[in-house]
Amino acid sequence: MNRQATETAAVTCAASEATHWDTDYLKAEQERTLAEERPRYSLLAKLLFLPMDLLYGRKGDLRKFHVLEVVARVPYQAWENVAYVAITHSHAAPRFARRIFDFVVEARRQQDNEQWHLFVLEELIRERGLKQGLLRYRLFPQIMAFGFYHLSWLLYAIKPKWSYKLNAEFEDHAEREYMRFVAENPELDDEPHHSPFCGEYGHFDSVADLLRRIALDEREHKEESLARLDAPRFGLETSLPRRVVRMR
Ligand SMILES: [Fe+2]
Ligand SMILES: [Fe+2]
Repeated sequence: MNRQATETAAVTCAASEATHWDTDYLKAEQERTLAEERPRYSLLAKLLFLPMDLLYGRKGDLRKFHVLEVVARVPYQAWENVAYVAITHSHAAPRFARRIFDFVVEARRQQDNEQWHLFVLEELIRERGLKQGLLRYRLFPQIMAFGFYHLSWLLYAIKPKWSYKLNAEFEDHAEREYMRFVAENPELDDEPHHSPFCGEYGHFDSVADLLRRIALDEREHKEESLARLDAPRFGLETSLPRRVVRMR
């Protein structure tokens, strides 16, 4: 963003109804994340993190976070897809279909939230003039997202708990990566953040606060997935008819 655009965005954010996120609150949440012991990730989760670490390094980096966000959206897309197909197969039971639709709404909300993360990261990357090579930052993330989508879909169709667990691990990892990155780059606290997206995503005093808020979103996504771990499929006591698993 050039200087004039930055100043315009600052005025717009301050004058708008945008939610302003308090630095002290966000810092306290960062401490909480960093103080928590890292859980033991499953082998599947480790296999997901490994190519990312190999391709983009273990250290946090805005371009790596961008890749993370491209991949992070897809379980929610997969769940939305599974739920829609289940609705199609539940036309004879409208009340049940309506309950499944609540899952669609939740998955869409989570997906949209991840999309905002992508928008704000793209903006940060552009402002810094960071280069994103076609292969490393465009093609490989799409391949990983493709694989993760189908894995999430399959796990969900077989046993939703498996898909929720994997997603919770992915989100836990993302939350820690963001918070660690902010802790390792204290200068981000002195970098003001103004964005044309503040009306939708919030108003932050600094880039550090913005990234802390994204980390908190990842924590919420993790908690939502963990809350679903022991819930039967679509809130039913019995599993869905097998044809829903065959539905694609
Ligand atoms: Fe995200
Ligand atoms: Fe997330």
